[in-house]
Amino acid sequence: MSGDIPHRESVYVLLPAAGGGTRMGAGRNKLLLPIGGVPVIIRTLRIFLAHPSVRMVRIVTAPDDRDLFRSLCSDYGVTERITFADGGDTRQDSVRNGLEHLAGVAQDSDLVLIQDGARCFTDFPTIDRCIAQARKSGACCAAVRLKDTIKEAGDDGAVVATPDRTRFWLIQTPQAFRFDLILDAYRQAHQKGVIGTDDASLAEAAGHPVTLVAGSYLNIKITTPEDLLFGEAIAGGLAADADSSL
Ligand code: CTP
Ligand code: MG
Repeated sequence: MSGDIPHRESVYVLLPAAGGGTRMGAGRNKLLLPIGGVPVIIRTLRIFLAHPSVRMVRIVTAPDDRDLFRSLCSDYGVTERITFADGGDTRQDSVRNGLEHLAGVAQDSDLVLIQDGARCFTDFPTIDRCIAQARKSGACCAAVRLKDTIKEAGDDGAVVATPDRTRFWLIQTPQAFRFDLILDAYRQAHQKGVIGTDDASLAEAAGHPVTLVAGSYLNIKITTPEDLLFGEAIAGGLAADADSSL
């Protein structure tokens, strides 16, 4: 009807944060480690809560960690528009559980951005591209081109092939979806025993086309100890940029 305010779907964010941080080897959840004095999970949360399109962020934590995360959030004044869900043994279990909890809140046509809690340097342009593409085609993920040559090798190290690297991409988060599409993909994967290392692969397995959008080389996942060094450098660079634009 003319004069009606056009309907805009809501954008929800799911932050899987229930991992054990084995490769970091810090003896505790790596998302609690500080970079530039601010815990990784707080950095990730701040980015998404500051984005004007984001309605609510749901953090998926190990049940035993939930109180810790909640009090950390309140220490940093991050208390509005966040909710919690329990994680599972794998990232896939954690995201599935988060999506099932969102099912009580989100409409089919709403969008959900799934973001590794450990990716704390995602920028607004990447989030904007993800939202725009998910609105258009229902399923997308942030990606960057490979910089290095890749080779396929056997267990003995013998090279089998050197594929054309221009056809390959490094996949990041956010991965953004229409809510009904990704919930269906996760449910199907659960029923059929499909396992994927990211969300988009489950959408692909369920027959939904996925589109890549440009991510950023700064959008690293804090995974191993050297990533803390890179993270300090990125945080320092971003802070210097912010100062110089004042
Ligand atoms: N994650 C999760 N639930 C799990 C495993 C992982 O919510 N059972 C989350 C992590 O907290 C992280 C994101 O998924 O934010 C990406 O996972 P990854 O970088 O592999 O983190 P960890 O699983 O914690 O690390 P590792 O694999 O080294 O143990
Ligand atoms: Mg892991």
